[in-house]
Amino acid sequence: MHTRRIANLEVSAIGLGCMNLSHAYGTPPSPEQGERVLLAALDAGVTLFDTAALYGFGANEELVGRVLAPHRRKITLCSKGGMAGVKGEDGVTRRVIDGRPATLRRNCEDSLRRLRTDVIDLYYLHRWDKQVPIEDSVGELSRLVEVGKVRAIGLSEVSAATLRKAHAVHPIAAVQTEYSLWTRNPEIAVLAACREIGAAFVAFSPLARAFLTGRLTDVGALDAKDIRRPMPRFSAEHYPRNLALLPAFEALARDAGCTPAQLALAWLLAQGEDIVPIPGTTSLDHLHEDLAAADLPLPADVVARAGELINQRTVSGPRYPAQATQEVDTEEFAAG
Ligand SMILES: NC(=O)c1ccc[n+]([C@@H]2O[C@H](COP(=O)([O-])OP(=O)(O)OC[C@H]3O[C@@H](n4cnc5c(N)ncnc54)[C@H](OP(=O)(O)O)[C@@H]3O)[C@@H](O)[C@H]2O)c1
Repeated sequence: MHTRRIANLEVSAIGLGCMNLSHAYGTPPSPEQGERVLLAALDAGVTLFDTAALYGFGANEELVGRVLAPHRRKITLCSKGGMAGVKGEDGVTRRVIDGRPATLRRNCEDSLRRLRTDVIDLYYLHRWDKQVPIEDSVGELSRLVEVGKVRAIGLSEVSAATLRKAHAVHPIAAVQTEYSLWTRNPEIAVLAACREIGAAFVAFSPLARAFLTGRLTDVGALDAKDIRRPMPRFSAEHYPRNLALLPAFEALARDAGCTPAQLALAWLLAQGEDIVPIPGTTSLDHLHEDLAAADLPLPADVVARAGELINQRTVSGPRYPAQATQEVDTEEFAAG
């Protein structure tokens, strides 16, 4: 697999988003299947693995740690803190955004233990906690770098302004934000700011949470707890309109000799050498299909046409429900 750079780390051009192995899209696969996916990714040349304290409230880091610890020196291990599961007085664990320095320190210690390592290569602030100045959160992450627990710092879902403030405290190696044909928010300002300061851009949900694969046709069949259920673009109002974008996109992929998922990933890779997509999957077949996108020789006109077919103007519905929109710090496009 080709490689790309995140600061001084050389990583596979496509990384593996590990979230789905424990969290998010319905019932997660068995730990045995999770292990098979992680090892197959490693075998196929993936060296960038992305997890977070949040995913499965620690279970995802435990899985990644158990399976990948023997291969630790071969991989770039990325995790995130500042948004994790916290057990309430009622005994129920809930997702809490907390970017206070003491919490970040504790999150990092917990992640190191679960990941069975003494250093995390790239440690992200999962969300900027708007109650805490970004300088304070990043200041604490820089102390984790100083004491050798973290090699490089990243931010997730931040605006260009927040990124610049953070970078003034400590060099930011990467920004991880949703980016795909149907979510173009980073094109407003964040991508340019990354390029200005020399941060890599890690694109999460690069397959639009399965929409761009063309294989998610019945959102009514999604599990009750699937996190796509409350997302407007997957609603009964908007999804049929979004599905109507697919036949032309699928035909474009077919003519180019690839699958829609591969076209979606190749489009992202073509947006710049500084972009590293991290698709997630629970399936070995999907994994191999997705990774093959890194070696696709796609003509520039096909890439351009894909961008014309699916973009923020053609897609229907905002990307997040109102509450989740408040939690992110990105410059959103106006409606549509
Ligand atoms: N920083 C953040 O706030 C944040 C937020 C979300 C995600 N992330 C990271 O980004 C990673 C990827 O994002 P994501 O999982 O949300 O979205 P994604 O990669 O865009 O889509 C994942 C979905 O697509 C399906 N899929 C993958 N390849 C496929 C193929 N070839 N054919 C058919 N279906 C396919 C998967 O189902 P199957 O299992 O059936 O393949 C899964 O339902 C996560 O694992 C996580 O590490 C970060």
